[in-house]
Amino acid sequence: MNMNLPGPKSLEVLKKGPKLFKGGASFEEEAAKLRNRRIKLSPQMINVGSDGDYIIDADGNRIIDFHAGWASNPVGNRNPEIIEAVSVAMNQYGFVYEHPLRYDLAERLVEFSPNEGNKLTRVNFEISGTEAAEAAVSYAIAYTGRPLIITFEGQFHGDSIGARMLGSNRGAHRRKGFEAWRGGVITVPFPISYDIPAGMQFEQYTQYVLWYIEEFVLKSVADPDSIAGILMEPILSEGGNWIPHESFIPALRKMADKYGWLLISDEVLAGMGRSGKMWAIEHMHADCDILVIGKHITGGIEPIAAVQATDEVLSHNEGHSGSTFAGTPSGCAAAIKTLEIMERDKLVERTARLGKKVIERMNKWPDMFGIVGQSRGLGFLLGASIIDKDTGKPDEDIAFAVASEALDMGAWFIWDSEARIRMYPPLTVDEDVLEKGLTIVEEAMHKVEKNNLKFEHPWYTNGVL
Ligand SMILES: Cc1ncc(COP(=O)(O)O)c(C=O)c1O
Repeated sequence: MNMNLPGPKSLEVLKKGPKLFKGGASFEEEAAKLRNRRIKLSPQMINVGSDGDYIIDADGNRIIDFHAGWASNPVGNRNPEIIEAVSVAMNQYGFVYEHPLRYDLAERLVEFSPNEGNKLTRVNFEISGTEAAEAAVSYAIAYTGRPLIITFEGQFHGDSIGARMLGSNRGAHRRKGFEAWRGGVITVPFPISYDIPAGMQFEQYTQYVLWYIEEFVLKSVADPDSIAGILMEPILSEGGNWIPHESFIPALRKMADKYGWLLISDEVLAGMGRSGKMWAIEHMHADCDILVIGKHITGGIEPIAAVQATDEVLSHNEGHSGSTFAGTPSGCAAAIKTLEIMERDKLVERTARLGKKVIERMNKWPDMFGIVGQSRGLGFLLGASIIDKDTGKPDEDIAFAVASEALDMGAWFIWDSEARIRMYPPLTVDEDVLEKGLTIVEEAMHKVEKNNLKFEHPWYTNGVL
């Protein structure tokens, strides 16, 4: 059933946006052009509340939430235990910088450290994933005394100037005007598993990328002794939920050991249980030297992020990072409670088990729908590449149509101007709600394929899609 979003109450609020927000005037102009061409604007909503697995919009619609606050919410919206922990900390401390909860949280994070070998025993708090990713690079450069960093095409580390230079998810567009600021970053392809260049196979492409680093970058671009490390997402998340070939990250680890580089695992999105293991790198049979943590850490309630590294890297590190509000009492309280709930309710194991079931269902999509090129997932990192069934090419406008139709039918997930859909249910999601949400996504795909729907969108959107 379609909800015909936005409802009147959402629309009343949304209408204020074009006058108030950055880019709003362009939105008005582009939206008018689409209306003239009789192209319907995407469904929208203003969220006025949330409840576990659901978002509630201004018109009282309850929408299944696979968006999860940009994948920041592992334990359901407005989790009462976390709200209570935050409220106790707020009432006790307000904001003070130095307080015992920082120590308690650091101790807990050390307990949860990944790595078979050298554990990550030191922590620094940040506010956002963006700052944490930048901090990790600062620490790698300070530790090694080397100026360069290798990153992968399609990664996302945030939208500050520094993080935009490190990341390259829609990189050229995001870096327009700032191209010269990325002097220290060497970007190489990430070996994705679908729509691979030059007709290569997945493993072959993986080997090619490794060859490219050793035989091209290290011979023609930079001396290995000038490189501080590799900044990688062990599952390329914002860039499409790509899971690398099993040979990839162990080979990066070997390379790092050979040249004295640090391996930085940015797990802002893929970490803390989302992949069905506590840390995504634990799937990859490799240790990292620095871990970047964000999003899930506070149960989606408070902004806290962290960098965690080995004793060698952080015990005497003269790099700089930090912020006034990094490690607030309420943020630390939320994080401690989130870890407690995850451990008590065995949420990582639950995610692995349910994720497997979901992926079995999603694996049928390429046979069921001509518009699905590939579906993939690990735990509750779920994604599908959407294609034009006639050309076989990835198609952003068809993916947008799927996201729009699904939202209007009551399931919200991430479509971020990409030829993919990405779903991030909370790790606590009720099994019936999970099934219902997936059924809606399938119905949306069926409708889009049957009616050849493609949606265009104004570049600035005022609302959720
Ligand atoms: C891998 C990764 N790193 C860093 C960030 C930036 O985090 P934040 O938006 O909290 O600053 C993101 C955000 O999506 C991310 O996915």
